[in-house]
Amino acid sequence: MDSPPGEREQAGTPREDCVPKVSMTVNGRPVSGEVEGRTLLVEFLRETLRLTGTHVGCDTAQCGACVVHVDGLSVKSCNVLALDLEGASVRTIESMANPDGSLGVIQAAFQTHHGLQCGFCTPGMVMTAAALLSDNASPSEAEIREYLDGNICRCTGYHNIVKAIQAAAAELGSARVAAE
Ligand code: FES
Ligand code: FES
Repeated sequence: MDSPPGEREQAGTPREDCVPKVSMTVNGRPVSGEVEGRTLLVEFLRETLRLTGTHVGCDTAQCGACVVHVDGLSVKSCNVLALDLEGASVRTIESMANPDGSLGVIQAAFQTHHGLQCGFCTPGMVMTAAALLSDNASPSEAEIREYLDGNICRCTGYHNIVKAIQAAAAELGSARVAAE
């Protein structure tokens, strides 16, 4: 027969010792927090760390609004368990601005080339674009469109997003050449 709840707590391990914790680096900062086994990375980022720039636009892992980088790879943060990322390095849209708070190159290109309207998809688009440009510094239009396959925008029709990524690629390319 089950013992009354009070007795069970006394006899077993105290409940607080059982809550799993996860530690990782987010935007260069070590963080840790209690999570449930089912807690998604996007929930950990938004609800525990209050990094609300990462959006949730669907519940079927299709829209890409939640894309972040995990150990340098773009990942849909609604599709990964926080507990599986012990020790990982995560980068979110909050890290894409310049140190002085001004828009980073990719963000500024989206603004200049009207790569957003409502802006809901934009954090995921920018993080996907950053992953693309770190893999391929000078992608063709077709390569950009293919890479954006997992990101849905309901407003722009994508043309200006592609233009923005091309402009960011050109600017980042010039900066690299100037630094050499
Ligand atoms: Fe992650 Fe839509 S919220 S893919
Ligand atoms: Fe509105 Fe892309 S700008 S969903």
